[in-house]
Amino acid sequence: MHKLLIKGKKLLSGSISISGSKNATLPILAASILNDKQSIIKNVPFVKDVFTMIELLNFIGFKTSINRKKNLLKIFKKRKKIKTVAPYKIVKTMRAGVLVLGPLLAKYKKAKVSLPGGCAIGTRPVDLHLLALKKLGAKILIKDGYIYANAKNGLVGNKIRFPSISVGATENAIIAASLAKGKTVLTNCAIEPEIQDLISFLKKLGCKILFNKNRKIVINGMSQTKSLKHEVMFDRIELGTYLIGSALLGKKVSFLKVDPKIIKTEINILKKMGIKIITSNKNIVVHRSANIKPINLKTEPYPGFPTDLQAQMMVLMTKAKGLSKIKESIFENRFMHVSELKRMGAKIIIKNNLANIYGPSKLSGAEVMATDLRASVSLVLAGMVAENRTIINRIYHLDRGYENLEKKLNYCGASIKRL
Ligand code: UD1
Repeated sequence: MHKLLIKGKKLLSGSISISGSKNATLPILAASILNDKQSIIKNVPFVKDVFTMIELLNFIGFKTSINRKKNLLKIFKKRKKIKTVAPYKIVKTMRAGVLVLGPLLAKYKKAKVSLPGGCAIGTRPVDLHLLALKKLGAKILIKDGYIYANAKNGLVGNKIRFPSISVGATENAIIAASLAKGKTVLTNCAIEPEIQDLISFLKKLGCKILFNKNRKIVINGMSQTKSLKHEVMFDRIELGTYLIGSALLGKKVSFLKVDPKIIKTEINILKKMGIKIITSNKNIVVHRSANIKPINLKTEPYPGFPTDLQAQMMVLMTKAKGLSKIKESIFENRFMHVSELKRMGAKIIIKNNLANIYGPSKLSGAEVMATDLRASVSLVLAGMVAENRTIINRIYHLDRGYENLEKKLNYCGASIKRL
């Protein structure tokens, strides 16, 4: 099993290119099930989760052609007879597999999709996905670890108010409603930028979707399909991760061809902590600070601070002078990185969903274990800023979501080796 060996305290300078967004690619690939013609997707990050979704599309009956050099993916229907199934063996490794439920049901009127099960960061239920699809007329049965759904006469538009905000349930509902008869009005939706990217893909397919900033999305179902090209947005979580890395170690690090407006919450928080960040239309430049200030923050749905950057931010907080606090309000068990950070010298106390981080701490290298995707990358950041060497085990978690991580960071001066 691969490990990472990190030699700490290397300063970073230069520029880091940001890949396409994993969390935008996954629902877009699921939505391509609606298309009988060819979908050409550009700026695809070829990370493990994306390969899993491609494997799922192949299993269902689509042909895919991958151009890794160009980050390009072509998808087209291979068979007339589609398997409307997402098997456990594929879905178990990636919760986003449940995103094929809406499109299969809308297009082929039935689907059998494995329940994703729990994962390290929480129970991760799918009740909100099912609630939306039932409102669109689906009959749903849970049996033997699978969701069996059918809509013999097709889905029909409806008004759906989500009782709480879910990114995946909003995506499943939007894709399914795109082929439903009539109008669907979704309220209390997630409005993450990746959802806006999915909507822009669906619009190219001919769907009529109105996105309203008050968490309301209106969809008028359609049935045409088109050959189309779509370029996936940049990965704002990858960008946020490297911004935090640069706040810790950057002599001067630049990020080109990104949109700072999309991550304004994160940038404002880093600025409040005393990090020097200069933004222009499409670029960001970051310098580390010797005087990092503590801060309190809470993870929230977009446009709030993302839970996917909580672990990385905690590493920065270990270097702030004073007490910082994080309230994790999205997932119930997302502090798995804390015990490993403490082994490296961090002073952190957890009480329920609140973490108190007492800084500044001197971190020192250790052998640590990655537990989930974002926890793994927080250990990479900790290893980079720590004295001596850090070894990170179970880095397959990291490969689920970060494209060329060692290459990108080593190019700017880090010392990270895959063993
Ligand atoms: C997506 C992201 C993930 C991110 C998360 C929150 C992708 C592929 N993944 O995950 O990286 O951490 O958003 O920003 O885009 N919930 C329910 N019932 C449901 C669905 C969700 O109770 O049916 C709860 C979850 O347990 C969680 C909260 O809602 O507490 C938010 O989860 P959700 O937004 O659905 O996350 P994902 O779409 O799985």
